[in-house]
Amino acid sequence: MIKKGIILAGGKGTRMSPLTKAVNKQLLPIYDKPLIFYPLSILMLAKIKDIMIIVNKGQLHQYKKIFPDGKRLGINLTFKEQNTPKGLPDAFILGEKFINNQNVALILGDNFFYGQYLSKKLQECTKLKNGAKVLLHRVTNPEKYGVAKVKKNKIFLIKEKPKKFISDLAITGLYFFDKKVVNFAKQLKPSKRNELEITDLLNKYKNNKKLSADYIGRGGAWLDTGSLEDFYKTSNFVSAIENRQGFKIACLEEIALLNKWINTKHIKEAIKFYGNCEYSNYLKKLI
Ligand code: DAU
Repeated sequence: MIKKGIILAGGKGTRMSPLTKAVNKQLLPIYDKPLIFYPLSILMLAKIKDIMIIVNKGQLHQYKKIFPDGKRLGINLTFKEQNTPKGLPDAFILGEKFINNQNVALILGDNFFYGQYLSKKLQECTKLKNGAKVLLHRVTNPEKYGVAKVKKNKIFLIKEKPKKFISDLAITGLYFFDKKVVNFAKQLKPSKRNELEITDLLNKYKNNKKLSADYIGRGGAWLDTGSLEDFYKTSNFVSAIENRQGFKIACLEEIALLNKWINTKHIKEAIKFYGNCEYSNYLKKLI
């Protein structure tokens, strides 16, 4: 059972400079809320309450403004600074104390997931006892991602950003690991681009026949907000859905309320915290 989750929300953000010169990428808006709300909502939908956000050194104060503490969302929220972006598996080395020899989920701070039955799928994934699990999604530009080649529902090849086509199944930025992950991460060596690679970590599980895969499926959306264009595409997606349905995607207080982690008193406090805005108007409708 996975009860702990890490959001990796540092990174150089150079692809989006000058927007990211003063503000961390994950705090920039995806339509009506900061990007970080979306991966955080995914962990909360998975019913994970113990969450650590890894941020760039020197940017912690930016995050503290939006998340002074986790109590108002009914979660236990901690932060950890990363001095330099050493690669995704660094999350497990930095998070060793937080992980505390337990199973753990990792979500990348710039990943967006949406779809029917997603919560159910996420809660299934947290049942993992041994090994590691990834979520795959078909894409038209696999060269931009880590990809997996699958045969008879088994992953038999994994590659980070392959120049030559091997598969169109991208490995999304949401991973579920057993407690061995910390030791495996510590054994990794930096790649040619001088980063610890998540694909090398996943290969350790694959080589031990301990890597399984699931799919977001055609009815679901997985968007990566890595580039400026992707950022606006994701914003437009959220705007289209929210304005059509009148429901918000990744309203953290709504998820916490549905999970029965908070009550109407907390919602009233949240309305005060955000002030007079459209997000607060939505919260008012919840109570
Ligand atoms: O989005 C899914 C893809 O994410 C996977 O398919 C790839 O296998 C995986 O390597 C990763 O590729 P990216 O090129 O998108 O990773 P990027 O370097 O952009 O980092 C993803 C997020 O993690 C981003 O929000 C910044 C943050 N980050 C990254 C690194 C390397 C950190 O906070 N610290 C880091 O050291």
